Amino acid sequence: MNRSVPRRPRAVFVSLSVITAAVIGTVSVLSGCGSFSGGGVVSTVGTVPFDQRVAIPPLAPSIVTDRGERVFDLEAQAGTHSFSAAGDAPTWGFSQDYLGPTLVAERGETVRMNVRNSLPEATSVHWHGMHLPAKMDGGPHQEIPESSTWSPTWTIDQPAATLWYHPHLHGSTEDHVTRGLAGMFVLRDAVEDALPLPREYGVDDIPLVVQDVRLGDDGELRTNVRGFSGLLGDQIAVNGTVGAYLPVATETVRLRLLNASPARVYRFGMSDDRTLAVIATDGGLLAAPHTTASVQLSPGERAEVVVSMVPGESVVLRSFPPDLGLAGGAGASNGGSDTFDVLELRASTTLRPSEAIPDMLAPIERLGPATVERDFVFNGTTINSESMDMGRVDEVVTLGSTEEWVVRNGQSQPHSFHIHDVQFQVRSVDGVPPGPELAGWKDTIYLRPEVEYRLAMKFTDYSDPDVPYMYHCHLLWHEDRGMMGQFVVVRQGQRAGSAPGDVHEH
Ligand code: C2O
Ligand code: CU
Ligand code: CU
Repeated sequence: MNRSVPRRPRAVFVSLSVITAAVIGTVSVLSGCGSFSGGGVVSTVGTVPFDQRVAIPPLAPSIVTDRGERVFDLEAQAGTHSFSAAGDAPTWGFSQDYLGPTLVAERGETVRMNVRNSLPEATSVHWHGMHLPAKMDGGPHQEIPESSTWSPTWTIDQPAATLWYHPHLHGSTEDHVTRGLAGMFVLRDAVEDALPLPREYGVDDIPLVVQDVRLGDDGELRTNVRGFSGLLGDQIAVNGTVGAYLPVATETVRLRLLNASPARVYRFGMSDDRTLAVIATDGGLLAAPHTTASVQLSPGERAEVVVSMVPGESVVLRSFPPDLGLAGGAGASNGGSDTFDVLELRASTTLRPSEAIPDMLAPIERLGPATVERDFVFNGTTINSESMDMGRVDEVVTLGSTEEWVVRNGQSQPHSFHIHDVQFQVRSVDGVPPGPELAGWKDTIYLRPEVEYRLAMKFTDYSDPDVPYMYHCHLLWHEDRGMMGQFVVVRQGQRAGSAPGDVHEH
């Protein structure tokens, strides 16, 4: 298991950009800016027409069996989708042409997902943010071959939250997600239900799947511009719509922001700098709302924000240049100087009253002291100098333990940390307790260069010596290139199995 891995040369990004250039050179249509470094500063402020009503992903239908299981059917399929008026793009989606329906389940329910793969190749579906058994997790070991169905089942037992689902096949994640395979997974519970928060789906509780895209003159997706961080688009699609507006008919509106982009970091705020109330982060509600002018999300992160509106006004949800903590040109070449108009919120001339956001939301019980500490350094496309190996278990965790993972980005380039199965609490950022934006449950966090993040997590309920969970950089290009490791959770005294690479659950 601890066999050594043959090392690939580390100068991977230099050689890749040369290869990319060579490949692109043979493609006849090359639209827009042909930069391979992502170096140009992008601003779409004032140029977005906001002429399409934003699409709201349908709620996924489900049935409840007599055994009390809530069953969803999802089909990964190919289709065509128009992002803008320019034309149709070949895309993939779940049970539709692009993106997927919103799944909703209650804490305590047992769900079963029948995921049919009708794509021309294998994929997988991972339930990002979900606490569940490893073989239900949908990571690279739960491959769904073409023309087959995978039916994981588990019981929802975690707080109300905005989670999401997307493919996770090793080496294909970026490709499958950017073709359109992504959707939201909303969890509800009694605590959230009891609060006076906007929760009418598509009315005052709005899912926003935010992606940056680059479209050719023919309306098709282009994937030819990369920064170190990966693919960077020059326009924003919200729920698959470029230049979208959202009609608002209530005094407050709750936006569930999901950064489903492969590489881009956003800093969401409003065009007139009005404040937002952040009520939830990745794993659920904060203890109290956090009032701020902006909220920064790296790929995979979510936030729920409540925006107040006055009758008849329009205001734009904007992404301001994010603070990537990068020196020199590294910021600009990874989107750190870019500004995007994301979505226009248009209030009706009369608005239905909304209740005030409560001062207290959900209590967050602090995790106890850690008994194990582990160190992780992210560099290039490696973690602790190792590249992902499906046959190697990197960490063995004992069921029931609370651990502290000490995570650091060792270079002046963007990286992030995401872990499966658990939500973590940020204990400290460079030795200091985190600000309110990192005070709640998290499963994904941006890693500023040379900053030490201490993340506390408790591994409960599920152990399996044979099937690993993943932790990785959620910049999808990095993940695909091997910036990922595997851990198994075992019972006290149990040994990790020997060949997780051979385990396939269909
Ligand atoms: Cu959203 Cu391991 O991924
Ligand atoms: Cu995940
Ligand atoms: Cu990375």
